[in-house]
Amino acid sequence: MKPLAAPRGKSGGPQAPPPRHVAIIMDGNGRWAKARFLPRIAGHKQGVEAVRRVSRAARKLGIEVLTLYAFSSENWRRPEEEVRDLMGLLRHFLGSELDELVSEGVKLRVIGDWRRLSPDLVAMIDGAIARTVNNPGPTLVIALNYGAQAEILAAARTLAEQARDGTLDPAAIDEARFEATLETADLPPLDLLIRTSGEQRLSNFLLWQAAYAELLFVDTLWPDFDEETLEQAIDQFGRRQRRFGGL
Ligand code: FPP
Repeated sequence: MKPLAAPRGKSGGPQAPPPRHVAIIMDGNGRWAKARFLPRIAGHKQGVEAVRRVSRAARKLGIEVLTLYAFSSENWRRPEEEVRDLMGLLRHFLGSELDELVSEGVKLRVIGDWRRLSPDLVAMIDGAIARTVNNPGPTLVIALNYGAQAEILAAARTLAEQARDGTLDPAAIDEARFEATLETADLPPLDLLIRTSGEQRLSNFLLWQAAYAELLFVDTLWPDFDEETLEQAIDQFGRRQRRFGGL
């Protein structure tokens, strides 16, 4: 039988398969609120609505893993009241969304130093993860108190300890070994990293994992991000030619 021709992208090259793993730096909540003369918390509240919308849309579009940057290890520098509000929204999100995640078969994962959050939130997250652990997926990963440099340092430290204890030959430390020591070890490779609100930086998010990801910076403020914006992003991804260092 004659093999089917590979689908062609608009640029003429082979069309990229849809992304399995999409990550989003959800930026612009504050500006969304400011433009409406509202307090920043109002922007974060709308940001949570966008989280609901977009996680549903990602499931509909068949994305296996959606990783959302909800709170960075640098976000502690924000005013105490804003940090408290963000933690409150997270509690509310977990409380109100968990039943749907369970019934939709979503596996919830959290990356970052989240065990240093307040004990009640840690208990809530532990409970939420436990309720979804046997779900088939897709997977929703929330990055909380996350910093990529800290994640990479923790992996380096683990490997150094194994080498010191004689259980690991330093010569055996290669990319695969290192990757297997990161928090994202069992997730598919990151295909597409989106940042909203027009800013163009990675802000210490998934630095190792982004090595071969397609980067997409969109002007939409996070509270305005919806199914259509996600579809457009997936469409743009489909038109990129991924070469992974080859030709
Ligand atoms: C960036 O906007 C957004 C954040 C620092 C927090 C993102 C959090 C949420 C969307 C809500 C909580 C998440 C979950 C998963 C329930 P910004 O405040 O930096 O906006 P600005 O740059 O316009 O000021």
